[in-house]
Amino acid sequence: MFTITGIGTLVTNDLTLERGNLGIIRNAALVVGDDGKINWTGEAVNLAVDLAADAIDVGGRTIIPGFVDSHTHLVFGGDRSDEFEARMSGTTYTAGGIRTTMTATRAATDNALVANARRLADEALRSGTTTLEVKSGYGLSVRDEARSLRAATTVSNETTFLGAHVVPPDTDTDKYVDLVCGEMLTQCAPHAKWIDVFCDRGAFDVDQARTILTAGARAGLGLRIHANQLQHGGGVQLGVELGAASCDHCSHLNDADISALAGTNGRTVATLLPTAELCTRSAFPDARRLIDAGVTVALASDCNPGSSYTTSMPLAISLAVLNMKMTCDEAVWAATAGGGAALRRTDIGTLQAGSQADFILLNAPSHVYLAYRPGVNLVDAVVRRGTCVVGALL
Ligand code: NIG
Ligand code: FE
Repeated sequence: MFTITGIGTLVTNDLTLERGNLGIIRNAALVVGDDGKINWTGEAVNLAVDLAADAIDVGGRTIIPGFVDSHTHLVFGGDRSDEFEARMSGTTYTAGGIRTTMTATRAATDNALVANARRLADEALRSGTTTLEVKSGYGLSVRDEARSLRAATTVSNETTFLGAHVVPPDTDTDKYVDLVCGEMLTQCAPHAKWIDVFCDRGAFDVDQARTILTAGARAGLGLRIHANQLQHGGGVQLGVELGAASCDHCSHLNDADISALAGTNGRTVATLLPTAELCTRSAFPDARRLIDAGVTVALASDCNPGSSYTTSMPLAISLAVLNMKMTCDEAVWAATAGGGAALRRTDIGTLQAGSQADFILLNAPSHVYLAYRPGVNLVDAVVRRGTCVVGALL
């Protein structure tokens, strides 16, 4: 057990408050139990005297919950820097680039896939991400999707089967949908908690996505969907209809989509991925419209070699505030408790008695600095399950 005092700003995301309320405690203390959970949080003046005795004093710095990055594609081979360079010279991003990574992923050994995922998970941890969702989706065959998911399980418990990322080359679409719902699902479901479909131009249409998600639900997987990224379509409505935990991207929404999301009362989260817009030079989604309508919003990195090759949640927060009309509080909530909501978890992204002791010590007087100082590494330490795994608390 250990105690931290001198916390200038403690973000708790107290679950008894409204979603989006950071539950800030100033001049705070927190107690971490030997079970790796938060034991107590409150104003330092209310800390039990015996606990205060050998507390670590962090000198007025800020503590926030570890980032919950609820959307990543960390299992892949190769890179796509040539495609990126071409895009920056004027070509447009399309779903087709996924097939380039498919070829490199199929050629990579299991060890290479695990090492690459581990490298990126460690990189994410250094910028404060203590929970990552990790998708397959670059294997696109029974064997390569199953081994991608096995690689994903080495870095996360929140793994997602994304066999329906695109149809592999020279393959009949209907036959591929049958394969995804049949043998591929059978081999992949034991290694996955979730199923996802890329429902968009150049990938799968709404009917195909419905078939695949329904099969996944029957196999016991929770639902997520890549929806409305490249153009307006029925993906978000489908996600809501099927009770998905999250509709991700949401870059092209009409009023009906927003009302549908709002009507779920937070059961279906809109996960926004601003670094994907940044790296594809696309228009940012209007988070204000969503939040004002009552939609629960999460922020995630979408880390993948094509559209968003970054693990940085602080960058996502900066972009959300500077380009998507989110307040600093909303963006920090969305990157922590919002990610938890998108994974249907309340034990992460919060710092209350009973929460997993996952938190970040920021070299800043408040969480506002995450947006106010874009591109600057403010992370002094990261604690995961009660153990300091990056930097030092002193
Ligand atoms: O979320 N949109 C689909 N999947 C990824 C991109 C995949 C890729 O280009 O490799 C995304 O942006
Ligand atoms: Fe994605």
